[in-house]
Amino acid sequence: MIICNSCIRNRSVATALSSIRVQPLNLQLVHFKNLSSSSFKFHRNVSIASASITRKHSSRFSSTLAKRSGTNGVIKHNDTTHKDEIKPTIKIVEVGPRDGLQNESPPLVSVKDKLEFIRRLERAGCSNIEVGAFVSPKWIPQMSGSSEVLSGLLANQLRDHHPRTFKDDRNASTRSRYSVLVPNLKGLEQALLAGGDPSKKGRGIIDEIAIFGAASEEFTKRNINSTIDESMDRFRAIIDRVREVQQTNDNANNRPLLIRGYVSTVIGCPYQGSIKPKEVATIVERMLELGCHEVSLGDTIGVGTPGSTKRMLEEVMNVAKPSQLAMHCHDTYGQALVNILVGLEKEVYTIDSSVAGLGGCPYANGASGNVATEDVLYMLHGMGLSTGVDLEKLLDAGHFICKTLNRPTQSKVARALAPF
Ligand code: HMG
Ligand code: MG
Repeated sequence: MIICNSCIRNRSVATALSSIRVQPLNLQLVHFKNLSSSSFKFHRNVSIASASITRKHSSRFSSTLAKRSGTNGVIKHNDTTHKDEIKPTIKIVEVGPRDGLQNESPPLVSVKDKLEFIRRLERAGCSNIEVGAFVSPKWIPQMSGSSEVLSGLLANQLRDHHPRTFKDDRNASTRSRYSVLVPNLKGLEQALLAGGDPSKKGRGIIDEIAIFGAASEEFTKRNINSTIDESMDRFRAIIDRVREVQQTNDNANNRPLLIRGYVSTVIGCPYQGSIKPKEVATIVERMLELGCHEVSLGDTIGVGTPGSTKRMLEEVMNVAKPSQLAMHCHDTYGQALVNILVGLEKEVYTIDSSVAGLGGCPYANGASGNVATEDVLYMLHGMGLSTGVDLEKLLDAGHFICKTLNRPTQSKVARALAPF
């Protein structure tokens, strides 16, 4: 959404802006012409751009130049704005409730605890959360309660008369965007059944369906029991069905249901060894052709270094724009943050991470946890980049899930700031 010039004079636009939660994904640039009409409250995620950068509208940049002053978020214009200070806003996709939990050995995390975990992540300002996976419970037992998780989230939404607010946080506004992993039509139908508005049927609470493939033939076989070509056929069937749902009135809350694609083993495969960047680019291109709005590049076993990550990204960028990509780094060799930095240098501003550094794939031998969201935030905020996520509240979510799992956090930042 881009709002320019004099339209901001209209108070109704101002009111609308203050009642929605703006997603970093769709980065919004609000361009003031008439400053006298700008004295209203904004949610913290709204980015304000000065006249000097309006030509940057398409490049997902926001400005830290339009400083907010006062205690209640009232924005004051800063005439000394300069385009050199423009910083991107980073979209964090919190994968803790899915990738973070899927690799945990029994006992299974209860649905109640998963819902509380998600609630705390939302409270921290995580605007994109992967809340579960509709995969075979025989393959991934920890995801077996995903239907109940969606139903619980839907019940919360209905109870709280969306947009939902948290009693203890006046700034928190509407709910996060929820995504779920789906490997085939069976998984999709289950997700739609659980996440739909019960009175209307349909997809209600789900904002994004994530399909997941890989650049390695052997990993695809071991992870989803198909060849790469077969997996593409399954994805096509999923996407066709999603389009069908979109065209019906079942789309209960009228939010577009997006498709996200994952490509795993973008650097190395536990069964095939190194993967050629060209092979990654081919799968990314196929995912985009299928209709994915974004493709997440999974270094599933965390073997990437800045060198191999850069080579892979350069090849992938022959077929995809940076705004269509996300970095999904596991941290096996402690390289995740530097690899993310390489992504930032290439203008990839979407980062998947998991609170407390939980995660891993049971079908990828040697994979350790995802990069910890706390560590990513510490780096990004230190670089002056905004994420919309509150580190302190995120630490609380990490503390909660580690206590539930009875295990220590993997986040260095959490250990330094809030030892537990
Ligand atoms: P399959 O065994 O080939 O499936 O598994 P099938 O079609 O032959 O059916 C066998 C049984 O599974 C049947 O039940 C089906 O009904 C059932 P039965 O008749 O024996 O009672 N079934 C299902 N049950 C629930 N939900 C479903 C479903 N589909 C079939 N959707 C399948 C194929 C894809 C289902 C299986 O391989 C699977 O579930 N794999 C998921 C593996 C997984 O979740 N891995 C982790 C996520 S990927 C990841 O972590 C990487 C990522 O983070 C990025 C990165 O780090 O790189 C995304
Ligand atoms: Mg992963």
